[in-house]
Amino acid sequence: MTVATLAQVLQPALRDGYAVAGLVTLGWEDMRAYVAAAEQENVPVILQAGPSCREHTPLPILGKMFLHLAENASVPVVAHLDHGYTFEECQIALDSGFTSLMFDGSRKPLAENIELTAAVAELAHAAGISCEGEIGFVGYSDGEQSNGTDPEEAAQFARQTQVDAMAISVGNVHLQQNREGGLDEARIAAIEAVTDVPLVIHGGSGVPTEQRTRLAQNSAICKFNVGTELRMVFGRSLREAVNSDPEQFDRVKILQQTHDPMVQAAGEVLQALR
Ligand code: 13P
Repeated sequence: MTVATLAQVLQPALRDGYAVAGLVTLGWEDMRAYVAAAEQENVPVILQAGPSCREHTPLPILGKMFLHLAENASVPVVAHLDHGYTFEECQIALDSGFTSLMFDGSRKPLAENIELTAAVAELAHAAGISCEGEIGFVGYSDGEQSNGTDPEEAAQFARQTQVDAMAISVGNVHLQQNREGGLDEARIAAIEAVTDVPLVIHGGSGVPTEQRTRLAQNSAICKFNVGTELRMVFGRSLREAVNSDPEQFDRVKILQQTHDPMVQAAGEVLQALR
């Protein structure tokens, strides 16, 4: 039984100078590949169910899938709700067995973000699980612009919400397809000077590998969320599998061919955070 909360995997990471990957899952194929990769590397992993995952599969089903994998894994596995937008959604994730709830109030005014995130943190802590919040706004490469995190606001957010992890906006952008983004290390230093809360980088796919490793080892960044980079590997290997045999129609046989490439790619992501 290796089901873990977010705090249980991030506090040792903060203390010992490494980061844990929050890997975006869309289904059974990628989630089991991520756990296989974490077992191979002998490191914890955070399985994340974000909005598009939940659009495809209901939260109670995702909770069972995550917990089944966690209970049978040889490494700690966190069942994490990514970008929960309402208290109700967070409550459903809690009831479905999730061990970590991200409430994303980052599009709301500061006071409202603090109030709503604090309510989810209280809900999570009363149940013995963790909560992540977001301060500032991490934009999207296909649309919304970022709003960089103000260090003083981050300190206030951490104090007043009691979150276990805080997502910050420091040059990171979701959905980038290359690793050319680069983070503002001066802003990260200013934020970690005023809070003890483990920091989270969303949009990890856009961050150069060298910078991921350096910040994992030398800063309070304890969690890198990575999605796009691994979805690209899945898409490519699925396309190759489909095209390799025009007679093949059994989807289990087709999907099996995505497993090894996904384990390999996820293993590289996990390795780079140590
Ligand atoms: P990327 O898809 O850009 O790696 O971002 C993942 C993420 O931040 C999920 O919350």
